[in-house]
Amino acid sequence: MRVTERSTEPSTRPEPVIEVERLHVHAGASHILRGIDLTVRKGEAVALLGANGSGKSTLVRALVGTVAPSHGTVRLLGAGLDADRVPWERIGYVPQRAGARTGVPSTAAEVVASGLLSGRRWWLPRGWRARVRTALDEVGLADRASSAMHVLSGGQQQRVLIARALVRDPDVLVLDEPVAGVDRPSQEAFAASVRRLVGRGVTVLVVLHELGELTELVTRAVVLRHGRVVHDGAPPRPRAAHDAVSHRHVHPHDDEARRPAPLTQNPVNGSTEEVAS
Ligand SMILES: Nc1ncnc2c1ncn2[C@@H]1O[C@H](COP(=O)(O)OP(=O)(O)O)[C@@H](O)[C@H]1O
Ligand SMILES: [Mg+2]
Repeated sequence: MRVTERSTEPSTRPEPVIEVERLHVHAGASHILRGIDLTVRKGEAVALLGANGSGKSTLVRALVGTVAPSHGTVRLLGAGLDADRVPWERIGYVPQRAGARTGVPSTAAEVVASGLLSGRRWWLPRGWRARVRTALDEVGLADRASSAMHVLSGGQQQRVLIARALVRDPDVLVLDEPVAGVDRPSQEAFAASVRRLVGRGVTVLVVLHELGELTELVTRAVVLRHGRVVHDGAPPRPRAAHDAVSHRHVHPHDDEARRPAPLTQNPVNGSTEEVAS
């Protein structure tokens, strides 16, 4: 437990699970993340939104330690990433998919089982078959355990990767665009598993292009633009709740970026956009 919290804060607040302070990431000459502060507490379901190139994947990679910060700190479950004390077995991570089909010749069950391996252990723990079955069941693919990955649809492959993260029975789940370009049944299966996980107290941070099926589930939205947080609070409301005619799209100037613009959601594609109020 950290003692840096101000005494005015109620002590009943759930403990921080993800703590990012003044995080900067550079890649070569580009300054990708420009001072990110973010605290996610136990049991929260947070959506990370923002246009392509705004830095969402870089932030998620910095969280799981695959990208090194040039400045600032990241703590997961109370442990600093730099101190090498993070209990990785309690964290599930689903990276952004590189392309559509990869043609990996493994079965769904093998891919899920690989989620039980860790850096130090390359054999499977006792009872792994049952755990793999449970994880595949969780994403609605219990009947596809012995299917080769390449015969599954893109959405089903993505569900297998989610099952691989779930098989560890994580306390924290970080997913980068898990439903981008996947079929409707896979989106619904994903929303259903997130709902169950959140119900069990798992903390979820999910990068999304649009809230879609998760609108009702997400308790908070963090929006990035040009490597900065420009909104942190209520998830964007569906556009239908607005008077569409009175809303004009704007691109705020830098001085306005401090004052997060209200967000609305496109009812057709569910994407979020800023609106003038
Ligand atoms: N390894 C890298 N080297 C150089 N530029 C990068 C690298 N990774 C990401 N970028 C750039 O950083 C910006 C943010 O990328 P990314 O985090 O992938 O954004 P998002 O996930 O929001 O689409 C983009 O302009 C991207 O081109
Ligand atoms: Mg990305």
